[in-house]
Amino acid sequence: MIVISGVASKSLGYKLAEKMNAKIVDVNLKMFPDGEYCLRFEGDISGEEVVVVQTTGPPQDKNVMQLLFMLDTAKDLGAKKVTAIVPYLSFARQDKRFLSGEAISAKTLVKLIEACGVDSFITVNIHAKKILENFTIPTMNLSAITLLAKHFKSMGVDGAFSLSPDKGAISLAAEASNILGGGCGWLKKERDRYTGEIHVEEKRLNIKGRDVIVFDDIISTGGTTARAIKMLKSQGAHKVYAACVHPLLVGEAKTKIFEAGAEEIVGTDSLSSSAGVISLAPLIAEALAR
Ligand code: R5P
Repeated sequence: MIVISGVASKSLGYKLAEKMNAKIVDVNLKMFPDGEYCLRFEGDISGEEVVVVQTTGPPQDKNVMQLLFMLDTAKDLGAKKVTAIVPYLSFARQDKRFLSGEAISAKTLVKLIEACGVDSFITVNIHAKKILENFTIPTMNLSAITLLAKHFKSMGVDGAFSLSPDKGAISLAAEASNILGGGCGWLKKERDRYTGEIHVEEKRLNIKGRDVIVFDDIISTGGTTARAIKMLKSQGAHKVYAACVHPLLVGEAKTKIFEAGAEEIVGTDSLSSSAGVISLAPLIAEALAR
């Protein structure tokens, strides 16, 4: 097996290759003055089973284009089998037409990936599982929540209450609670589809004096997590932690979360971030070995 380590997931690609005992093929980008580039594989992949690792966080358009170029080129150069590993699938929050006339961007992205002729697709905690129904090839949606929960357990935050900041993510809190054993709950969040403003409904939780970990798939501006943490603190929670699979952490997100009272922000290396301390390599390696 050969791991092609995309520019956006270089470090994860290397860790994965090491775990799988696989050969690495690097990707070279030759830049042109107008901003275009030419992508080149620095190794032969003909007749090989190839795994292309490329996340699609910011800058999304550029990382998506590189992903498509790599997948199509791998097939074109005669790879026997191509698996696309996209830890963070961008545009996944646009999985339906919330307002009339909107693009269903997630569906378009799936069409483009599949059009490159890939044989299978692997992602991690996709924002909405139903996006995968748009694929006709085999797909896997891995969950990194157990890895995150085990990390907190090893830090001694055992028995913490696991909270999801909106009802859609309750399965994340439930999965974490299986490891941490402290029970789980959820908050009700609503987002104004025009302004993007969020509202988190006040809810009494039985967390006074307890440690709580807020689990979400994505932390972007930090607004959702910060509001949840403020509510937990106002109800007397002891230590509160923020955990997510995809630490986008744009702008002042980290400051917002720490100012709300978080002890720590823990994420995975699905995206490049100082909070991305948990590597997805073992999880992906295990899935590929299945
Ligand atoms: C949305 O439903 C996601 O699960 C996250 O809750 C959301 O993306 C977080 O966004 P932000 O950090 O900007 O509040």
